[in-house]
Amino acid sequence: MSAAPAARFPFPIPTGWFAVAWSDELAPGAVRALRYFGRDLVLFRTESGAAQVLDAQCPHLGAHLGQGRVEGDVLVCPFHAWRWHGDGHCAGIPYAKRIPPKARIRSWPVVENSSAIFVWHDPNGAAPSFELPAHPELSDPAWVAVERHEFQIATCIQEIAENSHDPAHFQFVHGVPSLPENEARFDGPRQISENRGNFETPRGPVETSIRGTSHGLGVGHLRTRGLADMAQLLLQTPVDAEHVHVRWQFAVPKTAEGKPSPVGVAFAREFVRQFQQDIPIWEKKVFLPRPMLCEGDGPIAGFRRWATQFYVAPTTSEASQP
Ligand code: FES
Ligand SMILES: [Fe+2]
Repeated sequence: MSAAPAARFPFPIPTGWFAVAWSDELAPGAVRALRYFGRDLVLFRTESGAAQVLDAQCPHLGAHLGQGRVEGDVLVCPFHAWRWHGDGHCAGIPYAKRIPPKARIRSWPVVENSSAIFVWHDPNGAAPSFELPAHPELSDPAWVAVERHEFQIATCIQEIAENSHDPAHFQFVHGVPSLPENEARFDGPRQISENRGNFETPRGPVETSIRGTSHGLGVGHLRTRGLADMAQLLLQTPVDAEHVHVRWQFAVPKTAEGKPSPVGVAFAREFVRQFQQDIPIWEKKVFLPRPMLCEGDGPIAGFRRWATQFYVAPTTSEASQP
């Protein structure tokens, strides 16, 4: 018998809020099958507008509820039409008078803000331990949402998140100098980083700052000032322990004519260009628990200490669905 292959990364799927769809992808009455956190899930929107997420498997005889339909506020199984409420209880069986008392499906906490739908993932089904605020500029009428980008990447979130604490690679991967002043503050589930410096332009140096706030490992809010005003919503969702679905939404201020600021859009595209340069490196690298760091490397150790709070070992059988 050969031994099972070693996992590529020493991390379970983290706890936190993670995006599972853009809000405008899910009209009232729509149903979508999802595959995230190494599990099959179903996302639906009730006719009154609430987004809900349940485990995909109907406990009656195992049909996939992603093939079901919404009626009013319930999701109807495609197989024998058992009716499921978003909180996981069975709302009715059309051919039975009595509902089995244990007829329940795991319901996942959902919040919706900043144009996306988020699910709280905890390997043991624990309730959310922090709130997820909206991205300020994405709900500001003086700003306009511009480009959206999505990436499927063969890595784990830890590797993507660590990138912004690695100033040296900006020069060698992206061909840009890192911003000289770089601070990171860790505060419970939040992490606030601020990078400031002068960008060279044909008209001389322009002081620029990039401020990022992470809400756990799944959601980042970014805001740039100086060279360009630009805001970015960064969403990373584990598909499984070795694959990540990344979604980005950019927003820029409106010009006097109500159009998107062109310099903001150009700055956003530069972020996309740089991210695409990182992807091939992440997809082939290994994670070193004890890296050989040197002077000039960033606050990687501080970031790693902060991130440990999101790795909770699964302890229940509920947690270990394939
Ligand atoms: S499998 Fe869902 S109602 Fe029978
Ligand atoms: Fe990078």
